[in-house]
Amino acid sequence: MCLIPVHNNMNLAIIGTGYVGLTTGTCFAEVGHNVVCVDNNQAKVEALREGRVPIYEPDLEEMILSNVSAGRLSFTTELAKAVKTCDIIFIAVPTPPHEDGSVDLSYIESVSHEIADVITPEMGYRVIVDKSTVPVSTGSKVYQVIARYAKGNVDVDVVSNPEFLREGSAVSDLMNPDRVVIGADSQRAMDLMKRVYQPFNAPIVEVDLHSAELIKHAANSFLALKISYINAVSAVCEKAGADVELVAQGIGMDKRISRHFLNAGLGYGGSCFPKDVKGFINVADQLGAPMTILKEVENINEQQLERFLKRLRKKLWVLRKKRIAVWGLAFKQNTDDVRESVAIKLIKRLCDEGACVTAYDPKAAQTGAAALAGYDVTIADDMYECTRDAEILIVATEWKQFAMANLVKVREMMRLPIIFDGRNLLHGENALHAGFEYHSIGRKTLRPQ
Ligand code: UGA
Repeated sequence: MCLIPVHNNMNLAIIGTGYVGLTTGTCFAEVGHNVVCVDNNQAKVEALREGRVPIYEPDLEEMILSNVSAGRLSFTTELAKAVKTCDIIFIAVPTPPHEDGSVDLSYIESVSHEIADVITPEMGYRVIVDKSTVPVSTGSKVYQVIARYAKGNVDVDVVSNPEFLREGSAVSDLMNPDRVVIGADSQRAMDLMKRVYQPFNAPIVEVDLHSAELIKHAANSFLALKISYINAVSAVCEKAGADVELVAQGIGMDKRISRHFLNAGLGYGGSCFPKDVKGFINVADQLGAPMTILKEVENINEQQLERFLKRLRKKLWVLRKKRIAVWGLAFKQNTDDVRESVAIKLIKRLCDEGACVTAYDPKAAQTGAAALAGYDVTIADDMYECTRDAEILIVATEWKQFAMANLVKVREMMRLPIIFDGRNLLHGENALHAGFEYHSIGRKTLRPQ
């Protein structure tokens, strides 16, 4: 990390202490800005003040504690005070999907309204920044709400500054960004925003408001497309007897393609890709420029789980009463987040077919149990114990510790020696040496002689 010390530290408000708001606010404080994080959930604010962090994210808790004690980071429910004292106000509230895939912007609208209620011409210039993932042209609507409802002629610019952090590596993504995208239609706002990011020493992409909003939807959809592309290739590999890992390596070494996000598996999940692909499809439809390619991205993602279940049934015949161990509940490694997790979807399907499922996750036991309420699933507190008497072990999340597991010990615990690796995570040869039949995605099944 190469940080330039902040000479002009600024007063920043972050509205919303979800994943994006909390990590962004903390990292801004870490580089020297004075940050106040606002949330209307009193209990959450009190917990944060006491140093209790509601999410698991590597390095976040330590960073929050050190910045709070240095006096650069604070938490409040008082939006009015934050708007009064801060130069820049970041909106980082949820933008969940509606049933039809369109984006629910009611939280953004309501925060814009609250800002309008408290902002006055006497306060001077303010920049309002959209951090949440929003459809193109939301920024203009935020501006309209503030201009319409504020008392008097307030001096405000609205900026789009999408985030590209990944859960599980949010702090490091924020502290070392590939690029910072700032979409502003005024030079004054752009200059202030560049001051905020000066300490991060990252390339800044200066664009207009609408282009910045589109960059976020287009980036996430493209990454989802990459994953679906390699998953579609994995299906061909299975039929052709080829190896998708080798194919990914071969195409990924072309710099124009790159190896990142070409890991075949059970498909993408999480709070971003499924929602953002849907959101982008919806926005494009509304604009009359349909992104039909993204419908196929979604279709491939769903089929990936169906194909996996089909292969499981082929192996075990009927799933009813079969003892199945599942490693992983989180939607990916290094997080306790189970939103839209493929592991959870898989377990629900197994339960629906009458299987007896025991699952283990290093961090998502609690969140996973809540997501599986009403399903008869046992959550183990040890990854080896999880496999006791199992007829099959499924790897559903790409946690490193699963890759490092002692497979001889696992073999001793299980009733039958069968692994279905839904993330191509384990070392196939090791599984084979431990006596397993090893099934994975887009590769030949390995069977002991
Ligand atoms: C994603 C983007 O990567 C971030 O850049 C973006 O800021 C964020 O959404 C957001 O919009 O807030 P995230 O959802 O945290 O980040 O997680 P990813 O690491 O992108 O993984 C998403 C899903 O794709 C996971 O289920 C993961 O298992 C799956 N995946 C990822 C694959 O199946 N194969 C891959 O090669 C990579």
